Amino acid sequence: MFKYKTALSIIGLLAISCISFSFYLPNILEQGVSNDASTNALDTSPEARADSLLALMTLREKLGQLQQLDGGLSKNDLPTLIKEGKVGSVLNEVDTDLLEKYQRIALEESRHGIPLLIGRDVVHGFRTIFPIPLAQSATWNPRLVEEGARIAAVESKAVGINWTFAPMIDVARDPRWGRIAESPGEDPYLASIMGVANIRGFQGKNLSDSGSMAACVKHFAAYGMSEGGRDYNSANVGERHLREVYLRPFAAAVEADAASFMTSFNEINDVPATGNEFLLRGILKGEWNYDGMVVSDWESVKEMIAHGYCADEKAAALSAMRAGVDMEMTSTCMVDNLPALLTEKKIKLSQIDDAVKRILVLKYRLGLFENPYQRRELQAQVLSEDNLKAALRTAEQSMVLLKNENAILPLKDDLKSMAVIGPMADAPYEQLGTWIFDGKEKDSVTPLNALKKALADKTEVNYAQGLKISRTKTREGFPAAIAAAEKSDIVLFFVGEEAILSGEAHSRAHLNLPGIQEELLAELGKTGKPIVMIVMAGRPLILTDLLPQVSAVLYAWHPGTMAGPAITNLLTGKVNPSGKLPVTFPRAVGQIPVYHAHKNTGRPANADNWVHIDDIPVKAWQTSLGNTSHYLDVGFTPLFPFGFGLSYTDFTYGDLQLDQTKMQKNGRIIASVKVTNTGEVIGREIVQLYIRDKFGSVTRPVRELKGFEEFTLKPGESTTVLFEITEEKLAFFNADMKLSAEAGEFTLWIGGHAATSSSVDFVCE
Ligand code: BGC
Repeated sequence: MFKYKTALSIIGLLAISCISFSFYLPNILEQGVSNDASTNALDTSPEARADSLLALMTLREKLGQLQQLDGGLSKNDLPTLIKEGKVGSVLNEVDTDLLEKYQRIALEESRHGIPLLIGRDVVHGFRTIFPIPLAQSATWNPRLVEEGARIAAVESKAVGINWTFAPMIDVARDPRWGRIAESPGEDPYLASIMGVANIRGFQGKNLSDSGSMAACVKHFAAYGMSEGGRDYNSANVGERHLREVYLRPFAAAVEADAASFMTSFNEINDVPATGNEFLLRGILKGEWNYDGMVVSDWESVKEMIAHGYCADEKAAALSAMRAGVDMEMTSTCMVDNLPALLTEKKIKLSQIDDAVKRILVLKYRLGLFENPYQRRELQAQVLSEDNLKAALRTAEQSMVLLKNENAILPLKDDLKSMAVIGPMADAPYEQLGTWIFDGKEKDSVTPLNALKKALADKTEVNYAQGLKISRTKTREGFPAAIAAAEKSDIVLFFVGEEAILSGEAHSRAHLNLPGIQEELLAELGKTGKPIVMIVMAGRPLILTDLLPQVSAVLYAWHPGTMAGPAITNLLTGKVNPSGKLPVTFPRAVGQIPVYHAHKNTGRPANADNWVHIDDIPVKAWQTSLGNTSHYLDVGFTPLFPFGFGLSYTDFTYGDLQLDQTKMQKNGRIIASVKVTNTGEVIGREIVQLYIRDKFGSVTRPVRELKGFEEFTLKPGESTTVLFEITEEKLAFFNADMKLSAEAGEFTLWIGGHAATSSSVDFVCE
């Protein structure tokens, strides 16, 4: 009723065209009704409560809800702005007392008592820092990922943060891009599973539970496709590829009821994502019927001017609102310009109302009207022993053993001495990785400390940093490092990248170990001592030339607070490594992008006709070497395939079985394989299912991940892994851009990584 009246009054006002804009704008802004919220009873739905509240709000108050401000930048003005109802959300403030004060002003002093959404980038933990998201994907264990997100939510709620800007579910295939560290990796299926696990963890069963917070999936969309791995850069992508690769985790997030979406900084096919009507109103809010809210990225509304898409802030506000942005992060284009745009009939009041309603609904769903403050009762859980144990388990399962020559690992029980060398061995801050606003290095347990604690009574630990940080370029520390190696039986060499070398705006063109770490490795190699290299990094680094110089490689990523104990448990064999790569490791930067689900081309590369550049005869005839899709210098295979990871035990795969080789379109095939632990220690295996549709109305990738199972087997134990193949697993966006399966021939692989050779064919009729 109120809504109807309000609408009528506004239409009336707009009709008075002879009155100048500046004269009647304040009237529009203050146009409101009573502040009687008696209809807003607790037992009605969030939607109904939002509707009745909306009907009481002036335009100025509505616009206030659309504005998110930075707590740091706006500290002095915030109390007044909140009181006047000009702020819907605050980000980047973690002072509990201040947050409580802000919420109190919002609830008790603003006209409608609307609480604030308090946003924060809680990306891989709040105080208990878990491995970076890319590493979490390497666990292939959604239960652990969900648990980690839950812990992050509980720790955040303890200080009053109710909304995280996570999970980031941008599929990333370019390790030059610094934000690959925050991503779930290269595969849309794995990314969907990990995204959903995170959403479940953050949001819990009920958004209003004390330990739940709203998730925000980001960045919508194709941010991971940034040209050349340069952050913020353009994505030029065909619609099918966009839908199948980059949008797929977001579609899964809608199904999982993600509370909010964040737009991305990049442009997609020449239109910035924040002003992209096709994406936001078309696909997200239209086709997928998403009823949550959409926040812009930091100033990404205003940045549409720099993109060359909008001439000024008014045009940017128009684009964002038309496209379907509900809340603007930090820039103020919308709040400043929507009244004029409304007056000029460029936007409709119903568009503003829709945006406000989505925000209010979220606030009701979160229970903020009833419980807006920090949950003090959760404080005891911050950095609790249980939380640290969960971070430890995740770190252990995330690390990937890439090489283990002559089973040099696990370290032998009777090892007399070891050298611990390298800039990452005792770097409590660096092991935490990117996006750890609230993580503290004092809480970190470093590998050096953990190794000493675990082994010092029986093994001499000779520590020498060698290089102060990963980028150090002086050889000052070399002699001590070499001396430590010389007096030890084995060298544990901790290398990698500092945290700041990955993450937002931290792309790299060279992906070797920074500084002179590789020179130090060469010097250590001269001692003749076996070297175990532990790499702590935010992305795949190029290891091609380093592999022959070391006996073993443990890829530890940035493992978080519990890096030290996790690495120690793996090196000593207390825990068997089981992580598998969520991203293909290239041989050289020039090979990027390299990923498992590529196309075959008309001239697929093959081992029979590839000749290394150095072996090409002088003046060889141009076509004598076979014209296939490869590099003369690095070939056509990656250094390590997607899904790869070694173990201290062996898993033997039996023959692949299909219950039938012909499937009706609405039928199913059961594929199975027996996996046996034929080694000597207990281990966790991640069995992966890949399928290729051999011919289609459009071409299909050479292999696509379609499922995986992870389980633990004792020595001698077997299990039969079953995968159900249904039409849904075979579906793709066909020539008419419809998601459906096509009849035809398929190949199916089940194995321990994406290059497994064990396959069978089947037919779908
Ligand atoms: C990032 C977002 C982040 C936001 C708020 C932006 O620069 O792209 O991922 O959530 O800042 O901190």
